[in-house]
Amino acid sequence: MGDLYLDIIIKNGTLVDTTGCYQANLAIKDGKINAIFRGNKGLDATRVINADKKLIFPGIIDPHVHFQLQDLGKIISTDTFASGTQAAACGGVTTIIDFANQTRGISPLKDFNERKKNADPQVAIDYSLHLSKTDMEYLDEIPTLISEGVTSFKFFTTYSWRNLDLNDAELLHFFREVRKYRGMVMGHCENDAMVLNYRNELIQEGKTEPIFHAHSRPHIVEEEAIQRVLLFAKKTGVKLHLAHITTKQGSDSLFHAKQHGLKVSGETCPHYLLLNERAYKGPDGYLNLMSPPLRHAKDQQALMRRIKDGTIDQIVTDHCEFSRASKGNGKLPFHQILNGIPGIETSLPLMHDLLVNKQKLTYPQLISLMSTRPASIFGLYPQKGSLMVGTDADIVIFDPNLKKTISPEILHYSIDWNPFMDLKVRGWPIMTILRGHMLCESGKFIGPQNEGKFLKRSISQLNGFNYER
Ligand code: URP
Ligand code: ZN
Ligand code: ZN
Repeated sequence: MGDLYLDIIIKNGTLVDTTGCYQANLAIKDGKINAIFRGNKGLDATRVINADKKLIFPGIIDPHVHFQLQDLGKIISTDTFASGTQAAACGGVTTIIDFANQTRGISPLKDFNERKKNADPQVAIDYSLHLSKTDMEYLDEIPTLISEGVTSFKFFTTYSWRNLDLNDAELLHFFREVRKYRGMVMGHCENDAMVLNYRNELIQEGKTEPIFHAHSRPHIVEEEAIQRVLLFAKKTGVKLHLAHITTKQGSDSLFHAKQHGLKVSGETCPHYLLLNERAYKGPDGYLNLMSPPLRHAKDQQALMRRIKDGTIDQIVTDHCEFSRASKGNGKLPFHQILNGIPGIETSLPLMHDLLVNKQKLTYPQLISLMSTRPASIFGLYPQKGSLMVGTDADIVIFDPNLKKTISPEILHYSIDWNPFMDLKVRGWPIMTILRGHMLCESGKFIGPQNEGKFLKRSISQLNGFNYER
């Protein structure tokens, strides 16, 4: 290291990666982790941070978010890439993967280029995009998309009323094509016919309050669709990632698929672990609608078991922010309420409090679920998701003893409500660094506003899930 002058030295902290926790100093230069060392070494830097009693995590990676969600070409969610990524940074998140949604009949490459053009000038943190495929046209664009760095392709088994779903024949064909080019598929799994059937029955009975959103999508809706797409993945050999698993049955299916050697991974979200159907009651119940819906205590316990045994690979937020007005101010029947809740700024502190403080998972397990596994599943590791020398200096300094009560006032969303309102947590991120740039300090976004870059992902980096050559 000689007499190298550094940008930042973080001293006396406890570094956490998937191998363990260890006391060391971490030096940053030119956006990269330059050295990890003990003692003084005579090094100096523009900024020296004393991180005594603090934890040093690799930046959190949220590979399932929806900023400025578009429907039929119109932005319908409340945030922008700018406000969303700044809130994310304040929550310790340094990389997101959002979605370019193919409009039926339109070239997905065009949708991807437009989404990227929109995000590029706005993003405060690094980002990538999955491509949501909504029809069978333009399958020949898959290799071009892969060469552009889009290696994961989303599909929906439901949302026929929004023209998003693929039928079984289409799914099989789509899986085969993605497999041919060595990509992966990622699924929102709910049985569309069942949803429509239950929904119509409930509406006919006049049952339109928010709680009936959950009743219209009972467990079997998720279980059937997950089992079906697992069979299709087995048949075609494609790598499959199961989005937002909510049920005991869904997480058990993932467990058994892994046992049988399928190339499959899965995720759940903080809201499925912390909230249940009761959140649909009361005057603000309508705000908490998302799909799949919130479940029961038994499902929460089952999901927790599947996190602990390593079946569930990652925690993501499915962040999708709507104002009270855009959710209809409590006046709409459940099937007309826009689906989605915010979560990106609170996911690290909520999961630290639940998984480490209460459920006694280790810090390396937490970091695996929220940084290293997402990076490796989606082809970003080790540039992201590690604290290795030479990789991007994306760092969260976390105070495990700082207590906060969740409320809109301490967060950076553009809305006045929060699904985790009044929850008390111990542990909060106090600094977030992206490639050596200080983005957040003590609850304030202070960084450059558009330092984020598009991350091209490559097939060969789909770590741990490589296709045999
Ligand atoms: O309810 C959910 N998951 N909302 C996210 C946005 C969408 O429509 O996929
Ligand atoms: Zn979804
Ligand atoms: Zn989603």
